[in-house]
Amino acid sequence: MPSTAHAPSSLIQVERVAELRAQVRAWRAAGERIAFVPTMGNLHAGHLSLVREGRARADRVVASIFVNPLQFGPGEDLDAYPRTLEADRRQLGETGCDLLFTPSVREIYPRGQDTHARVEVPGISDILCGASRPGHFVGVATVVCKLLNMVQPDVALFGEKDFQQLLVIRRLVEDLALPVEVVGVPTARESDDLAMSSRNGYLTPEERGLAPALYQVLKTTAEALRAGEPVERAEQTGLNALAAAGLRPDYLSVRRAEDLAPAGPEDRALVILAAAYLGRARLIDNRRVNLD
Ligand code: PAF
Repeated sequence: MPSTAHAPSSLIQVERVAELRAQVRAWRAAGERIAFVPTMGNLHAGHLSLVREGRARADRVVASIFVNPLQFGPGEDLDAYPRTLEADRRQLGETGCDLLFTPSVREIYPRGQDTHARVEVPGISDILCGASRPGHFVGVATVVCKLLNMVQPDVALFGEKDFQQLLVIRRLVEDLALPVEVVGVPTARESDDLAMSSRNGYLTPEERGLAPALYQVLKTTAEALRAGEPVERAEQTGLNALAAAGLRPDYLSVRRAEDLAPAGPEDRALVILAAAYLGRARLIDNRRVNLD
């Protein structure tokens, strides 16, 4: 059975790399620029803002939906990760995406994931979320490198909510000289400032009421730093505030925005990153702070 299907709004869906490449080659031959939005599906307004940004920067937008097993650790939510292909396809078509790539695990890891070559970005992969999720960023870097090689876009778009992921990908692209521009897109938020995330769906109504505290605490911590509070004290106050709000903090850390090194007294461009558990969900968020 051919794996090419046309959803409403002329969205093309392909499952095979050969089909993806043939279509992208045809667009390139016509002189068109290609933008790429990799996702794991269960799309929300944040993903759609990446597609819109892609449209603004290129003639064609390719999106992928692939729940990448290599970036999930043992006991994480790989099996439970929400899969909502029909709704995703409709939203992508309505937002002006041209092609949706939905490879199988076999298409991406034909010899199995355990013996597949891996891409490691040392230095920033084992800290923060990487410390709590060993191997996660190797899984992300490997699949993103592979998807970029498959699509060969001019520009690739990633959400700033996953700030550490964005830096890992920037480093990967720079170190391996991949010919693609990486663009970070601001975090999409609910009306109460909770960062949009596919994992917010795990929250019970009561937990959903508590979740905005994560970003509130980041904002308060940013104000404290701007008011001259020392980094360590601001971090500890932030951790205490998260716990007091009913979240179980994993980390709250003030880092140099450029490379996530611990913030020193000379550093002005900072980012506060935090992760916290709430029921079944592990929420992450961040806030930039410029001390100049
Ligand atoms: O951010 C995500 O959804 C994933 O980590 C990505 C970049 C699609 C790689 O699987």
